[in-house]
Amino acid sequence: MIAIGSDHGGYALKQAVMKHLESRGEQYHDFGTYSEASCDYPDYGRAVAEAVASGAYQYGIIICGTGIGISITANKVRGIRAALCGDCFSAEATRLHNDANVLAMGARVVGEGLALKIVDTFLDTPFSNDERHIRRISKIEP
Ligand code: RB5
Repeated sequence: MIAIGSDHGGYALKQAVMKHLESRGEQYHDFGTYSEASCDYPDYGRAVAEAVASGAYQYGIIICGTGIGISITANKVRGIRAALCGDCFSAEATRLHNDANVLAMGARVVGEGLALKIVDTFLDTPFSNDERHIRRISKIEP
């Protein structure tokens, strides 16, 4: 199960991502925003992050204009490792090395085609489970 959310800047890309998730047969819940009316990205970044941190959702996908504000917000929630990705290499590496549980993207940075490939790469790449990566991840939380 995937938790997804965006601000107004990410609303249109989120619609495309949700359609793509449906085509993959993925289950998701949309935590808003539900229109292109101006809103505050922390409200949606936090809602998705808390949903993932609760254990009810395996992954989160969050989108704002740059992906920066919403990823900063999500990373304030204990247990969340949100990775802002604008390319497939980063999306693969952050699953393999960081066991990232939230994917952040900037709708004003990546086009729809690339964004959907990034989503596929993120969702389809398992954590490496390498001892060195487990050790490093364990040092992240304050
Ligand atoms: C909204 O205009 C914009 O600031 C927001 O989507 C995001 O880019 C913030 O980091």
